[in-house]
Amino acid sequence: MQKIIITGGAGFIGSHVVRRFVKTYPNYNIINLDKLTYAGNLENLRDIENEPNYRFIKGDIVDLEFINSLFDNEKPDAVIHLAAESHVDRSISSPLEFVMTNVVGTVNLLNAARQSWKGRYDQTRFYHVSTDEVYGTLGEDGMFTEETAYDPHSPYSASKASSDHFVRAYQDTYGMDAVISNCSNNYGSFHFPEKLIPLAIHNIKQNKPVPVYGKGENIRDWLWVEDHARAIDVIFHNAKAGQTYNIGGHNEWKNIDLINLLCTILDKKLGREVGESARLITYVTDRAGHDLRYAIDATKLKNELGWVPSITFEEGLEKTVDWYLANEEWLTNVTSGSYQQYYKGQYNNR
Ligand code: NAD
Ligand code: TYD
Repeated sequence: MQKIIITGGAGFIGSHVVRRFVKTYPNYNIINLDKLTYAGNLENLRDIENEPNYRFIKGDIVDLEFINSLFDNEKPDAVIHLAAESHVDRSISSPLEFVMTNVVGTVNLLNAARQSWKGRYDQTRFYHVSTDEVYGTLGEDGMFTEETAYDPHSPYSASKASSDHFVRAYQDTYGMDAVISNCSNNYGSFHFPEKLIPLAIHNIKQNKPVPVYGKGENIRDWLWVEDHARAIDVIFHNAKAGQTYNIGGHNEWKNIDLINLLCTILDKKLGREVGESARLITYVTDRAGHDLRYAIDATKLKNELGWVPSITFEEGLEKTVDWYLANEEWLTNVTSGSYQQYYKGQYNNR
């Protein structure tokens, strides 16, 4: 039986990864380790919380003593590491939190894993989930490959780049089995409404202004979150030690075109006049150091491990909008803080 610690499993992508592993591998023992910051929400996992192969442990990866004792007690065979501070705008206002969680937290996990796995690196794996933002920004042409030099610009991407380097250093220095994947922007269900797509859906629905940074000309390459979770599954099980894979959807959108598409979809779904939602678009001051364009070349993952996205952007966006319209309560809870009461009620006695 494989025992896997998935960090950040109560977050957006982590909850999809936890769900996928719990459902697909009933003989694995899945531990979700999460601090439950504002971005972590156990409601994301209600449907699987009672599965016999799943457990939640509340904890902070920055807390070295806690992490060491967790490894001593649980003796995991693998870590899939997603816990992070993940929002670029927050990293601009509070960079140090990003250094603590994304860099120090990752090194704490690597240290604990190194000690716990000494002598059995060939039977263990440290999987680090990272972002394409470590590569910096592209001009009008080209794509990020696994060979692109790191060139991060925001405190968020600098902290993720640093953690990637530490993971490689532990592989090269101590011989640990480590793999890294760098993915483009994700979208889908359970996405905290501070990121562009859920924020826009939420605001359009509520007839509030939809803030577009600068001229809306920045380009992102969007991937459906469940396709990311499937890529992580494929890489975790099949990649050779020390490998890095880029994950992306070949799906580039200018922010303003994406927002206009969402407005059109929501006009239809909410029975509004054509063009009504687009009137909510409001141009605001640009983000400092705003990367112009991200685009992923995922050829290596396709050729070596056979992964390609399973659905088109149109299908994924439609599913996503439907999910947000049907899950108003989730949105209200994550934004109002009543989730905290749920957590206390659920875990008071632990
Ligand atoms: P998220 O912000 O939704 O979730 C992060 C999770 O980590 C939350 O549950 C939070 O409670 C937990 N966490 C934060 N600090 C912690 C700490 N100190 N100890 C324990 N848990 C802690 O993030 P996400 O969008 O799901 O991203 C997950 C990972 O994927 C991150 O590493 C991110 O860099 C990476 N990534 C994200 C995207 C994207 O588009 N969202 C794209 C590529 C890579
Ligand atoms: P975001 O979802 O924060 O992801 P990232 O910065 O990691 O790519 O932002 C996606 C794009 O949308 C990015 O170019 C910034 C832009 N943006 C807006 O125009 N308005 C907003 O309110 C937000 C949150 C983002």
